[in-house]
Amino acid sequence: MTKDFLMVSDFTTEEILETFAIASDMKKDRRKYSKALEGETLAMIFEKPSLRTRTTFDVGIQQLGGFSLYLSPAEINLGKREGVHDVAKNLERMVQGIMIRTFGHDIVENMSKWASIPIINGLTDFSHPCQAMADFLTLQEVKGKLQGLKLTYVGDGNNVAHSLMDAGAMLGVDVTIGCPKGYEPNVMMYNLAVENAKKTGAKITIEHDPYKAVEGADAIYTDVWASMGQEAETAKRKQIFMSYQVNENLMKAANADAIFLHCLPAHRGDEVTDGVIDAPYSYVFQEAENRLHAQKAVMYQLMKK
Ligand code: CP
Ligand code: NVA
Repeated sequence: MTKDFLMVSDFTTEEILETFAIASDMKKDRRKYSKALEGETLAMIFEKPSLRTRTTFDVGIQQLGGFSLYLSPAEINLGKREGVHDVAKNLERMVQGIMIRTFGHDIVENMSKWASIPIINGLTDFSHPCQAMADFLTLQEVKGKLQGLKLTYVGDGNNVAHSLMDAGAMLGVDVTIGCPKGYEPNVMMYNLAVENAKKTGAKITIEHDPYKAVEGADAIYTDVWASMGQEAETAKRKQIFMSYQVNENLMKAANADAIFLHCLPAHRGDEVTDGVIDAPYSYVFQEAENRLHAQKAVMYQLMKK
C-alpha cells in the first residue's frame, strides 16, 4: 500500500473498497477502534479555511486513540517563513502523519517526497481525494452498490470534479462533468481517469449542456462556482455558471430516484437552490458525516503499525 494519499488512485480499487469496508465498520461504533492509532500524532497544516476537514480529522484521530496538532498559516507560513523541505524534515521527527490543505498540488507532492511519514491531501487547488472517498461511500450506502451507476457533476471542472473523476474511474462509476466551455477539468486528470476506467468499465465524459449531462444520472453533484483562492472571480463566474444551477428542473431531467450531493460549503441560491439541497433526495449531511468515517479508515490504512 502507498505511504501517502494524495489522489484517490494512489489506492488500488481493492484498497479503496477495503477502506470503505473499514469505514463502515468504524461508523457502527466510534469506540471500536479506540486504540488503533494509540499514541500517534497527526499534524494538520491548513493554509485555507475549513469546517468539515478540520473537524473530521481532529475528531477522527482522537477516536482512533491518537492526537492532532493544528498548524495554521500563522504558525508555519509555508514557503515564506520556512520551505516545504525543511518543514517536512522537522515534522517527520515529531509526528507520525501529516494532513495538509494548501494551494498548489506540488506542495503536497514535495511534502510526500521529503517526509518519510504518511501525507494526506486535505484539499489542493487540483484535488480533494478525502472528499471523494466520503462521496462514494455515501453513494454506496444509499444505492447499495457502485459498479454501473452514473454520477453527474454540474459546475466548475475544479478540484472536487477531478477527484470524483479519479474515484469513479477506479470504482466503475460513470462520471460526467457538465460544465461551461473554458471550465473543463484538467486534461491530465481526464486522461488519467479515462486510462484507469479501462480496467473498471466506467465512462468518463465531459458535456457542455447541463440537461444532457444529467440524463440517466443516479447522483447529481455540485460545488461552489468560485473555489478558495478564486474569490476575485466570483461576480464573473456567477454570470457564466447561472445556467448550470442545480434546481428542481435540472433534477427532474435525471433518473427519478437520483440523489443530490454537495461537498459543502454550499452557496444556496447560486449553484444549488434551497428546494434541492433541503429535499428528501439530498444526502449532503450524511455525506459530510462520512468525511469522518472515510478519513478514519484512510488514516488507519496509512498509519497503523
Ligand atoms: N467539503 C470540505 O472540504 O469542507 P471544508 O472546506 O469545510 O473542510
Ligand atoms: N472547490 C471548493 C471545495 C471546498 C471544499 C474549493 O476549493 O474551495
